[in-house]
Amino acid sequence: MSKETFYITTPIYYMSGELHIGNTYPTVLTDTMARYKKMRGYDVKFLTGTDDHGQKVERMSAKTGKTPQDFVDGLAELSKNLWKTMNCEYDIFMRTTLPFHAKACQKIFRTLYEKGDIYLGKYEGLYCVECETFFKNAPDGLCSDCGRQLSGVTEECYFFRMSKYADKLIKYIHDNPEFIRPESRRNETLGFLKGGLEDIAVSRTTIKWGIPVDFDPKHVIYVWFDALPNYATALGFYGEDDSDYRKYWPAVHVIGKDILRFHTIIWPTMMMALGEPLPKTVFVTGWLLSNGGKMSKSKGNSIDPIDLAKRYGVDALRYFLMREVVQGQDGNYSEDSLINRINSDLANDLGNLLSRTVGMIEKYFEGKLPAVPKKMTSFDDALISTVEASEAKASQAYDRMAFSEALSEIWVSVRRANKYVDETEPWLLHRSKETEALARVLYMLCETLRHTAILISPVMPGTSAEIFRQLGIWDDKLKTWESLKFGKLPCEVKIEKGETLFPRIDVKAIKETEAEEQAVPSKPQITIDDFGKLDLRVGIVKECVKASEKLLKSQVDIGSEMRQILSGIAQWYAPEDMVGRRVVVVTNLKPIKLRGFLSEGMLLAAGEGTDDDPVKLVAVDGEPAAGTFVR
Ligand code: MSP
Repeated sequence: MSKETFYITTPIYYMSGELHIGNTYPTVLTDTMARYKKMRGYDVKFLTGTDDHGQKVERMSAKTGKTPQDFVDGLAELSKNLWKTMNCEYDIFMRTTLPFHAKACQKIFRTLYEKGDIYLGKYEGLYCVECETFFKNAPDGLCSDCGRQLSGVTEECYFFRMSKYADKLIKYIHDNPEFIRPESRRNETLGFLKGGLEDIAVSRTTIKWGIPVDFDPKHVIYVWFDALPNYATALGFYGEDDSDYRKYWPAVHVIGKDILRFHTIIWPTMMMALGEPLPKTVFVTGWLLSNGGKMSKSKGNSIDPIDLAKRYGVDALRYFLMREVVQGQDGNYSEDSLINRINSDLANDLGNLLSRTVGMIEKYFEGKLPAVPKKMTSFDDALISTVEASEAKASQAYDRMAFSEALSEIWVSVRRANKYVDETEPWLLHRSKETEALARVLYMLCETLRHTAILISPVMPGTSAEIFRQLGIWDDKLKTWESLKFGKLPCEVKIEKGETLFPRIDVKAIKETEAEEQAVPSKPQITIDDFGKLDLRVGIVKECVKASEKLLKSQVDIGSEMRQILSGIAQWYAPEDMVGRRVVVVTNLKPIKLRGFLSEGMLLAAGEGTDDDPVKLVAVDGEPAAGTFVR
């Protein structure tokens, strides 16, 4: 009998910068669901990938001097590496620059054009480069999503007749309660739809980095109109062999709340226009916040997940993400809360339960439990009913992708098992030579741990495997969801002691080491006369070009004259960002030649010039005239 299919996707990530722990959250969530569904017997496909096109990529690649393709290829490799580190086992790594995707998008575009659902018109309005979003009006000229300045655009564009599908979409949302989850996001979408829909511009003539419209190649397909179909083209939709599409579609899309409208309005109306089934579910997650704001590279509050995984372990990080953020709501990241979770839930509760169980089997039975009688004590009954109840609740929560709730339920039985040890006092049973009762207690603990290892496996696959290993459970049949029944574990457990699962983290020691690492040796003191030897002035950059991979060559007005200054900042500043900028110039530094160009001064900047500590030019408050002394 063929298995039921389950197709789940993450958003495809913009390749305009490296991914951070905020983007890692939807991928770990999707991986957890994919693993869970596999365990429940589904034929699962899990897609993640990269959104390679768009104006932002075009600009960012220009800053680095790379071609857009080289630029996105490099970042795509970094993303793959991140998912490998995070133990995210996707089946498909989709990229919008794959030739078959471009062909399929062109075909989709043409089909809609021939049907009359795409037509040529003129676009006048505002555009946010950051969010790749068009706005008809914005009273303050700012993007309503990211708050950045919008740019005015007037151009010939192809439009998608989205207005035509508003009523049909409203009906669909009403008829399919599972289509948008959670409920609040469903209501939000219905709110957008209340006033009907406008047609949207789906091509651009001002950018090059994208998929050209094949019948009118000066137009490039709007980045979202190219990105959204990836979920289907990856399965062969509008391609040469669409059997996977027929088999696995419709999908469950996991997305962040910032891209709600694209997934609950644009994408479904596109599929309606093509006469195809809509996605099964759009599951909307909240954001991971850091210091109260959405984490993002541009805000400088992003956290590198690889670094965290190296320091604290992949499973600890996966656990934290799935436990700390209640699905659908925003959650807060802080290193302290991560450490708290590790120390309390992982080290104190789970790690402790495993190590004391394995330790006692080793100490009291030389590593091998004898066969135990079936007779139960009231403590046993209480433990079994807690484990069974929390298991039922956890499975239900898993089905709803409510992983935080599932983990919290699982921990009810982990904590109950630790309490069971205190209640049954195995050390006293040992002392009074009640061998059978002692073996029974330890068997109960092994069974609880086996259940726990199964239940946590979608979130913490490595830890689950290690628990099975230490308990000497090799038979795969004892690791399945179907085997979640107390008493399935054969009595004669033979343990294999191993490392502590989660060593406690000594916060004090970390803080001390960090303080030591950060302490920068100071330079010797100087007098005010020494300082007075420097001639520091405000300069205004008038022109700027790249002189080499690393160097910018600026013409700087220092009031009395124009100076040519070379600075090793090309990695961090684009020439166009320099022009008009006020800088602080050391004007009496002896001129030198760099790469054949004379440099007559130096711009002051902070930072080591490493990835962790990028260069930041020293800025001047207000608008002092060029040549103003800096003291
Ligand atoms: N390329 C589009 C998606 C196209 S899907 C057809 C995009 N890319 S993105 O890289 O900017 O964001 C991808 C996902 O990461 C979004 O769902 C976004 O919500 C999520 N996150 C980015 N920062 C996040 C947090 N700080 N917290 C949680 N999710 C976050 O949008």
